[in-house]
Amino acid sequence: MSTSEVNLPGTSKAGAAASTVSLSTNAGSLSDYYSASQLRNDRWTRLKSLAAQLVGSSYAHVDKAQLLGEIDELLGSLEPIEAYWAFPGRRGLAELHELLKRDDHHDFTRVLTRMVRALQSGAYRRRLGEFVADADHEMEEEHDLAESQEDRAHARPFFEVLIVDELSQGQQDAQCNALREQRQGDDPFVYEPVIVGTFEDALICILFNHSVQSVVVRHDFGFASTNRMEIMQRYLRRVGNEDLAAMDPENYGPELCRLIRKIRPELDVFMVTDRSVEDIAGRDLGCARVFYNQNDFTELHLNILRGVDARYNTPFFNALKAYSKQPTGVFHAMPISRGKSLIRSNWIRDMADFYGMNIFMAETSATSGGLDSLLEPIGPIKVAQELAARAFGAKQTFFATNGTSTCNKIVVQAVVRPGDIVLVDRDCHKSHHYGMVLAGANVVYLDSYPISKYSMYGAVPLREIKHQLLKLKAAGKLHRVRMLLLTNCTFDGIIYNVERVMEECLAIKPDLVFLWDEAWFAFARFSPTYRQRTAMSTAETLRERFKDRGYAERYARHAAEIADYSDEQLLETRLLPNPKQARVRAYATQSTHKTLTSLRQGSMIHVHDQDFRGEVEQAFHEAYMTHTSTSPNYQIIASLDVGRRQVELEGFEFVQKQVEAAMSMRKAIDSHPLLRKYFQVLSVGDLIPPQHRLSGMEAYWDIEAGWNDNWQAFANDEFALDASRLTLAVGNAGYDGDTFKNEVLMNKHGIQINKTSRNTVLFMTNIGTTRSSVAYLIEVLVKVAQDLDSQIEDASGMEKKAMQRRIKSLVEDYPPLPDFSRFHDHFRPGIEHRTTEGDIRSAFFMAYDEDNCEYFPLEDGSMEAALDAGRELVSTAFIIPYPPGFPILVPGQVISKEILHFMRALDVKEIHGYRPELGLRVFTEESLAGAPTQPAL
Ligand SMILES: Cc1ncc(COP(=O)(O)O)c(C=O)c1O
Repeated sequence: MSTSEVNLPGTSKAGAAASTVSLSTNAGSLSDYYSASQLRNDRWTRLKSLAAQLVGSSYAHVDKAQLLGEIDELLGSLEPIEAYWAFPGRRGLAELHELLKRDDHHDFTRVLTRMVRALQSGAYRRRLGEFVADADHEMEEEHDLAESQEDRAHARPFFEVLIVDELSQGQQDAQCNALREQRQGDDPFVYEPVIVGTFEDALICILFNHSVQSVVVRHDFGFASTNRMEIMQRYLRRVGNEDLAAMDPENYGPELCRLIRKIRPELDVFMVTDRSVEDIAGRDLGCARVFYNQNDFTELHLNILRGVDARYNTPFFNALKAYSKQPTGVFHAMPISRGKSLIRSNWIRDMADFYGMNIFMAETSATSGGLDSLLEPIGPIKVAQELAARAFGAKQTFFATNGTSTCNKIVVQAVVRPGDIVLVDRDCHKSHHYGMVLAGANVVYLDSYPISKYSMYGAVPLREIKHQLLKLKAAGKLHRVRMLLLTNCTFDGIIYNVERVMEECLAIKPDLVFLWDEAWFAFARFSPTYRQRTAMSTAETLRERFKDRGYAERYARHAAEIADYSDEQLLETRLLPNPKQARVRAYATQSTHKTLTSLRQGSMIHVHDQDFRGEVEQAFHEAYMTHTSTSPNYQIIASLDVGRRQVELEGFEFVQKQVEAAMSMRKAIDSHPLLRKYFQVLSVGDLIPPQHRLSGMEAYWDIEAGWNDNWQAFANDEFALDASRLTLAVGNAGYDGDTFKNEVLMNKHGIQINKTSRNTVLFMTNIGTTRSSVAYLIEVLVKVAQDLDSQIEDASGMEKKAMQRRIKSLVEDYPPLPDFSRFHDHFRPGIEHRTTEGDIRSAFFMAYDEDNCEYFPLEDGSMEAALDAGRELVSTAFIIPYPPGFPILVPGQVISKEILHFMRALDVKEIHGYRPELGLRVFTEESLAGAPTQPAL
């Protein structure tokens, strides 16, 4: 089956019915599209193929008048789209119209073909300066085709500058030319201006045109866009809930600056105002520069270039490149440095051939001098970390070369003291559990809501967190509660409402520290929709909120209202923190290497903690020293620096394209009759129960309603679903997740994934995912479905029955997911039963003594018999079945029948911490009868 039959939007031949624009073409109907970028791309492609029919000899039979009508209509439909782009832009369209009017079909087709090719290959970015400056708008066709990787690498980076000003066409041309005239041959970058005349068009433009890097906001422009295309209006809905139309026109400029800062904080905004500069400067709009009523294009040009250069700068990568070119004699312990041990070898030279020499030229260590030290940075690493803090909205950022596993342990050790109570989601990554052991925390495990049907957990409901905090408060232990640790987003893509969690928890415990494990969420900063659910952005929002007078008044009313509330009522109330007491203390750990550009193990810790300097800094330093190698890999650090440059310049574009690819995939699977027979993409409604979804959002796309806007769900719901991940239920195809992953996807089709559950597989898109890779995956699924169809057709009656039984077992007979049972009393000395914390560290180390432990076989029923006889069986270790990959038992946890049942039903080959030849390791009765492991607290 070819990709075009797969019904991806834009590659679809079906469903081209007209909506807003009555296109009778194959470019797809507007409602097919999630993204205007894909629509734009497909319309140009369609136009190119129609133009080919206009002049091609094999199309003699085609009705030319009808063809011209279609071409004209398509060109018209591109007008409201191209208004936001420099290329082909309005100028390109005008030129094409002109050629058509002259009946110059050959020239029309030639120019159009070149334009489309330049647009789709991105070649226009490399040569647009020359292209537009050229009176004939010529672009060398041969050169276009011959463009090599090297040309691309050495071309000056290109971007677009948005100018917001209400101007006539003549004035627009004059503005653009005035800026173009500023270009110098040695400028590091080339840019082209795009001009829009209204507030709304400016917002659409920065959301649609990802090439925009700088915005010039002038003082005379209107509010409402005349662009009524639904797909463009959708961009406006993504801006949020603000009531903008009621704004005083005087404020259009400042408000636009503020909103741009909120939507795309990485952009440089230059404001040209005729109002008092003091008035504007005092409003903290986040502008890169405010100009007072001037038209100095040289100054503007230099500021634009400087702003982009500040993001392009990679201090550590630059230093490493410079170092690799220096002549040095190596008299320290690193024979691979400068490739010396390879070049002289007769046996391992192929390593140099494979990697190239640069990587070895750049191999060095802090102790050999010349470059900065990760452990005590004072030079380029320090600056690189500061730039990363800017990019990710943190107060401080620290690089790690040993993954987020290390970052988590650093933060836990830095913040948690022995005996502190920490609330932890039980299905978090193992590094946290080990962190708790190392820190000697008393752990309160929080249960996520179960998604039993798919053998998965969701995330921890806020009610459960508040419930635990209120219980600890009632027991007089709130002063010992130190940290709340949650995974955001979860592996499966459930995203917390970070703002709400932090607000309500701070209302109960005003100095609570939050550790948000964003191992899978580094990309989120670069999408306005996702950003609002990140730790750093929320910390910033709350800092601002707590300073606001209006909020203080709101809090005072709220405090009076809830003064006599019972705990049960408090659980039902949206709590507000006291702004005079609340401290904003947030940490985020991110595996940059998982979702952004970095070599493996490149991670970052971001900090926004008001008390960091006063309280944590020293301990943080010690924790960083504890866990960081004294030989950190400089290539990883350089890749983090470059990865940061990338997200500041194209993170917005890449994340947008990633989500678009995932959305196309959703729609392609859900709308394909054959695929729907065997597979189901789990929707928002499947993964998030309705009580956590007040927006009522059920699915990002469904066959009746088409695309549903996710802004409201992201803004308000307790949990949202990361659209860039797709959980595919495969039970109806008769496969369990593991077999489907290994035998079907990997062995037969070379498709790699890393997460499965009993009856699902998880597909993760990333910033490298393309439309073609999505199309390939769909092709593979279609092939699998066709094979299944023919297998069923040829099956005997018995075989059919066996298949039905298998499907039933996978989709109906699922084992209920067990909750965290409890810590054994031995590890809770002096703790009465109202609260649930346990001393995991004592349990962990008690198991070091073999005499304290014995083994029970899992299969022979002896454990159930012991439980029936009234014995408490207590795990000595972390037992982590893979999948799902989180501990089903932790040291000191009481084993329940439900847990045993679940372990057997999981039917997985890999259970970390469990030795099948010996059985499950538990504490002996004698060891648990001994004295408590720590004095009562
Ligand atoms: C939620 C979570 N946190 C932390 C980690 C560890 O990250 P890293 O592989 O960067 O050490 C993982 C790894 O899969 C994870 O899923």
